[in-house]
Amino acid sequence: MSRIVGIDFGTSNSSVAFHDGKSAQIIEMADGSRLLPSIIAFDQDNDVLVGAPAAAVGKLAPLKCFRHIKRLMGTVFNRVENVNSQVVEGDDGFVALKGPDKTYRPQQFGAVLFATLLDAAEAQYDERPDGVVVGVPAGFKDPQRAAIREAAEIAGIAPDRIWLMAEPVLAAIMYAQGRKKFSTIAVYDWGGGTFDFTLLRCKEGKLEVIGTRGNATLGGKDVDEILVRHCVRFWKEKTGADLGLHSLTMARIREHAEGTKIDLTGNPRSAVRVDYVSTDGGDGIQHMNVPITREEFEGMARSTVEETFIPCRELMAEYAVTPAMLDEVILVGGMTRMPLVHQMVEKEFGKKPSSRVSVTEAVALGAATYAAVAIERRGGEDFLLKDKATHTLAVETLGDIPFVVIKRGEALPAERVVQLTTSKDNAAVVGFHLLEGDSDKASRNSLLVRDYPEVSPGAAGDPTEEYRVRREVDSSIHVTHLGSGRVVYSSKGAEPA
Ligand SMILES: Nc1ncnc2c1ncn2[C@@H]1O[C@H](COP(=O)(O)OP(=O)(O)OP(=O)(O)O)[C@@H](O)[C@H]1O
Ligand SMILES: [Mg+2]
Repeated sequence: MSRIVGIDFGTSNSSVAFHDGKSAQIIEMADGSRLLPSIIAFDQDNDVLVGAPAAAVGKLAPLKCFRHIKRLMGTVFNRVENVNSQVVEGDDGFVALKGPDKTYRPQQFGAVLFATLLDAAEAQYDERPDGVVVGVPAGFKDPQRAAIREAAEIAGIAPDRIWLMAEPVLAAIMYAQGRKKFSTIAVYDWGGGTFDFTLLRCKEGKLEVIGTRGNATLGGKDVDEILVRHCVRFWKEKTGADLGLHSLTMARIREHAEGTKIDLTGNPRSAVRVDYVSTDGGDGIQHMNVPITREEFEGMARSTVEETFIPCRELMAEYAVTPAMLDEVILVGGMTRMPLVHQMVEKEFGKKPSSRVSVTEAVALGAATYAAVAIERRGGEDFLLKDKATHTLAVETLGDIPFVVIKRGEALPAERVVQLTTSKDNAAVVGFHLLEGDSDKASRNSLLVRDYPEVSPGAAGDPTEEYRVRREVDSSIHVTHLGSGRVVYSSKGAEPA
């Protein structure tokens, strides 16, 4: 029997769920926990550890421990942003991770996380899942999505048994369960690495995305950094030592900062405690203990929380949706547990956010439900999803100008034929550059496809080669060169259906 599980492949935590035809259930890990910390580490023999044992290594040997892997997957190396000493430039120009023995692609670590989730499902059902529905941030671009697919493939799942779905849509499926009336809802999803805001209309069996915006580089880890910077300032004032120069100490503080942030959710005061920290860059050593109250922390974090409202306001304005028109605001993601986030969301939208869906389990449960009702067509009525493109696809033209092919906000699936023209008399080749992104400067968008077909001689401006560009409802992109029928690009790595 085929078995498709739902997976929340998170920046901080991952989980897996299965829908048995009646309801979706989270599958427990071997140690009984419902979440797998998305952490990989190496032990003394350089064997790979996953989840909680990997987190324990992080406290002692942070440079042998790898966190927030999802946020690095499918991203181009950038000297300014990738300041962590574990992050290096791979041969392909993408981010790579420096392990104790060799360099790894983030997808390889992602695959270990996928395999651990599949192991848990196999232990529960005596059968290994052969398909996965995986939640991805709505704002992820194609290379990031391709990297997540690749991780699932390395873990043994066939390409045509991997479905990537926007995380807020999956959370909304859980909200819509059992609802008979259409409601307009907003999903405010703030996890460890990304922020997504999505407006939807939904009722049981039907979901229509109104629009989505987000910030793929704003997550709980950035809130942890606020505490890290606070510790660095505190230490500088106390001892004069500049910890910014000590990458190992910085990594150790980072390991503790998240715990302090979570502690402040339940307690009015806490402290970041790190043993054996250098005081002067030389021999001086002291234990670091940086006390902090919730109020102080909230003062520091307020502007970061405020940043999440920028995409929310833009999207609401674009679709003329006012807070009063929302039936419900759904909170998803661990960061929404922070009391300040809760309060500021309530104030922003003028209503108490809903607690009908579990903030950390909704994505995996929604993915499992999608697998059952939309893919395997069991467990209830028909399922209909209307989604929209989250990024524009365009072809680069002269003068750094993108010529729009499929626009952000267009209903999916969408398909266009693009005809190129030559720029010079008797040109021997023409260039086809397909871009993904919403900037009006071609060079600021990501280059997805490059193709240089030969053309017969003609005058400048003559129409030449044609390409068909198609974006499916799951956001996958397929490009075909029409003259030859050659598949130039497919997000799924295989011939499009
Ligand atoms: N009680 C809490 N108080 C404050 N923050 C919390 C709490 N619990 C979890 N978090 C934070 O929530 C984040 C993790 O949330 P979650 O598990 O939803 O993220 P994720 O799904 O792994 O990430 P993403 O969806 O961005 O890929 C972390 O930054 C974590 O520190
Ligand atoms: Mg998440």
